[in-house]
Amino acid sequence: MTDVSELAHIAIEIAREAGALARRRRDEGVEIAATKSSMADIVTEADREVESLIRDRLRSMRPEDGFVGEESEPETGTSGITWIVDPIDGTVNYAYGIPAYAVSIAAVRGTPEPDKWTALAGVVFNPVTAEIFHASLGNGSWLGGRRIAVNDAPSPAGALLGTGFGYDPRSHAGDLARVARVMPLARDIRRFGSAALDLCAVAAGRLDGYFERGLKPWDHAAGALIVTEAGGRVSVGHERDEFGRVLVVASNSLLFDSLFSSASGD
Ligand code: IPD
Repeated sequence: MTDVSELAHIAIEIAREAGALARRRRDEGVEIAATKSSMADIVTEADREVESLIRDRLRSMRPEDGFVGEESEPETGTSGITWIVDPIDGTVNYAYGIPAYAVSIAAVRGTPEPDKWTALAGVVFNPVTAEIFHASLGNGSWLGGRRIAVNDAPSPAGALLGTGFGYDPRSHAGDLARVARVMPLARDIRRFGSAALDLCAVAAGRLDGYFERGLKPWDHAAGALIVTEAGGRVSVGHERDEFGRVLVVASNSLLFDSLFSSASGD
């Protein structure tokens, strides 16, 4: 039997070390190493270095597991467990010196595709605030040593919602139309710039809900488990828009159906 708490412990230890490295490199100055899907979609040398550190640590501690990371080639394991890793989620914040970026590490069982896997453990660490969000299947969600839960008290003023926008400028009109559809539910909207931290904000009751088209598996793998273990609901859609983007929606149970139907009406 897999010890899911042990997987979370491993992820916490590695995320702390990886986050410290990311923060050190940030203090030394960041250079953009390349652009990816569009000019706005960047990778820094630190993204690559931090992913390589995480990969090395996992290889030595869990040599039979698979690995899927944002910045390197995937590797299939033999144990049935795969680590899904975003070394720096919120790379644009990182490049601009905005202190809202995070190391995201999840362990999943099964085919490493979001609609097929079972998430076993997830950790999201912001090295600037030193906040570490973590969860393992069946054991609740935690911010450091404090148990966290989604906010399920309805507010007459409406919901505080988070979202994000695609890197491809051609997708901005659709993203803005989605915000307009969702706005009647909202008291206000936040765009923090790190999907992993957005999901943790839902888990901790700092946001009532979150929606975005265009996340990659490593953006949401850890954060989604942290939401569900905090009593919330998450949907990672299968249907893709014309840019190949799936919709992710997360919130407390009260809001979920209305948020999902407003956000998905495109
Ligand atoms: C991005 C961030 C951003 C979200 C993008 C993601 P990255 O991840 O999570 O908030 O809007 O969809 O791709 O590129 O910084 O790892």
